[in-house]
Amino acid sequence: MALFRKRKHLDSETMKNGAKLITLANPQSVISEQFRNIRTNINFMNVDKEVKTIAFTSAMASAGKSTVSANVAITMAQAGKKTILIDADLRRPTLHSTFNVSNSNGLTTLLTSRSKEMDANSVIRESGVENLSILTAGPIPPNPSELLSSKHMVDLIEDLKQEYDMVVIDLAPILDAAETQQLTSSLDGTILVVRQAHSQKSAVKRAVELLKLTKSPILGYVMNDVDADGDEGYGYGYGYGYGYGYGYGYGEEEEKKGLFGRKK
Ligand SMILES: Nc1ncnc2c1ncn2[C@@H]1O[C@H](COP(=O)(O)OP(=O)(O)O)[C@@H](O)[C@H]1O
Ligand SMILES: [Mg+2]
Repeated sequence: MALFRKRKHLDSETMKNGAKLITLANPQSVISEQFRNIRTNINFMNVDKEVKTIAFTSAMASAGKSTVSANVAITMAQAGKKTILIDADLRRPTLHSTFNVSNSNGLTTLLTSRSKEMDANSVIRESGVENLSILTAGPIPPNPSELLSSKHMVDLIEDLKQEYDMVVIDLAPILDAAETQQLTSSLDGTILVVRQAHSQKSAVKRAVELLKLTKSPILGYVMNDVDADGDEGYGYGYGYGYGYGYGYGYGEEEEKKGLFGRKK
């Protein structure tokens, strides 16, 4: 079986056909339960400071950010939280395919609009899932980094924070996109998605270092595809940042706990 699951490291499947929404298709499955655990763990982070704006990023592409962020956002909506999911990976936009909506307007439309009066609600769409709204990436500009690093983006997130209980952002990989590091600084926290089978330890280490330089705490990491050789194919695990938030430390602890090694 494992043969059929071997995938290229750079995978455009979700950009074309959307992320797999197992939390909708099969909410009772073990994997959906794992996504609910991730949601619960994020809730636990609410203790010191309210966590309302979070982003998912990774070291490199195809780690599973779009899949994980969409499914986690769905579990939040299913728990009754008014949630908005934003596609801010302007290099590999996916959200419109996932929810099968047009991408002719989206985040970039709002950010390039000169008029501050442009109503975000004219671009935000219903996802079809109760309590979940979506903001697709929009037409891809030549200068994605500039656009996402603009004050408009910070203001937009602030506005959305007033409207929604949770703002969930799918961000480009931190090692590929200059704006990711900057953008996370204005959020309540970041979650690092690590595709266990694909991720290079040095790249993940560098990603953690870059995130530590931002003002935003690393809320934890999602180990994706943990059991890629097992029969299920999908597997998700969630880990806390050791020492929590700002004090997240990458190092021997993680190695001892098998974070980057295959479990078998
Ligand atoms: N746990 C998993 N097991 C198997 N395939 C996965 C898993 N997570 C993601 N994928 C697949 O890997 C590819 C990349 O996932 P995606 O969510 O688009 O990553 P990213 O947004 O980080 O680029 C997609 O084809 C997706 O369906
Ligand atoms: Mg993606």
